[in-house]
Amino acid sequence: MNTITTKALEAKFKALFNTTPLLLFSPGRINIIGEHTDYNDGYVFPAAINKGVYAALQKSNSGHSTAIALNKDSRVTFNLDALQPAPQGHWENYVLGVVAELKHRGLPIANFNIIFEGDIPLGAGMSSSAALENSVVFGLNTLFDLKLSKTEMILISQKAEHTYVGVKCGIMDQYASMFGIADSALHLDCRNVDATPYKINFKAYELVLINTNVKHSLSDSAYNDRRRVCETISKQLGVKALRDVSVNDLERIKNDVSIEDYNKALYVIEENTRTLKAAEAIKNDDLKALGQLMYASHEGLSKKYKVSCDELDFLVETSRKHTAVLGARMMGGGFGGCTINLVATAHVKQFTEATTLLYKEKFKHEASIYAVKLANGTHIIN
Ligand code: GLA
Repeated sequence: MNTITTKALEAKFKALFNTTPLLLFSPGRINIIGEHTDYNDGYVFPAAINKGVYAALQKSNSGHSTAIALNKDSRVTFNLDALQPAPQGHWENYVLGVVAELKHRGLPIANFNIIFEGDIPLGAGMSSSAALENSVVFGLNTLFDLKLSKTEMILISQKAEHTYVGVKCGIMDQYASMFGIADSALHLDCRNVDATPYKINFKAYELVLINTNVKHSLSDSAYNDRRRVCETISKQLGVKALRDVSVNDLERIKNDVSIEDYNKALYVIEENTRTLKAAEAIKNDDLKALGQLMYASHEGLSKKYKVSCDELDFLVETSRKHTAVLGARMMGGGFGGCTINLVATAHVKQFTEATTLLYKEKFKHEASIYAVKLANGTHIIN
């Protein structure tokens, strides 16, 4: 969104609530590699992007709170003393969950009004949900001077997703959205929630996102199911998380678990190693190696972890036919959303045009292409 539309958001707020709002931006994220490793205390490699959620908010003395999602043309009012989750799948749970967690911690918040406008599609695997949660917690922290650290804020956002949305997510999305650094990706250790930033300049190459524009249902329950499998296997291995074991360790219990669960745990252990290798590859300017790691990541997500889908697999397979593409993989939770592709800049147009054509032929609906910039995390804009 440009300045003019931010102004429009402000004007809309003033027209509706008669006060000047605080304005903030909270970004979505990409993830170069390290998928489904975050809730295994492992490594991930995300970056905040220049697309996300814009929020306008201010205190309210109307006796209740209001949240409006302009994109969805949806308005909800709620009472801070009688918070309850909306039915599953409703956007306001991301907002209500954060508010409930702040209340649960005994923090002094009062009624407020908030309006959102976003420029990332929901369900695209670019974490519009973490962007939304972070915009609420950051906005309320500022408005009511709660003195929360950024780390406390992302833990509140994550808790909201666990309790109100019902997805037992890891910390990657909220971290990337809150702590993003312009032009950089964050090599995050999810155990101690601490990241090393890497300046990303792929020179003749760039990252391109292709959205399948599908989000298969069941994705939330499948996500929680994957997490449960990982936790069960960790328990069997006597460790805190899969981060603590090697492939050899896993071998020891191979006969005690189903082959499906074994493969899932194997994927996580391998993906963790790939993420460390990816950091090395980037350090050494070895984009070929990085691309290979991305392809291997997809293979694991699809065949072992089983969180891909036909549309994502098709896009990744198609990319393999282009020498201009060094690597591609599904990004985020899976079952739809985007692929992330490492492509020679000179051939992006040709690659994306050819791919979208084939995609439309096969699936009878459009794929979308996004060029994104790596950007700063959640921040006030006025
Ligand atoms: C979703 C979750 C994250 C992470 C990814 C998969 O985006 O919110 O915590 O687990 O899936 O890597």
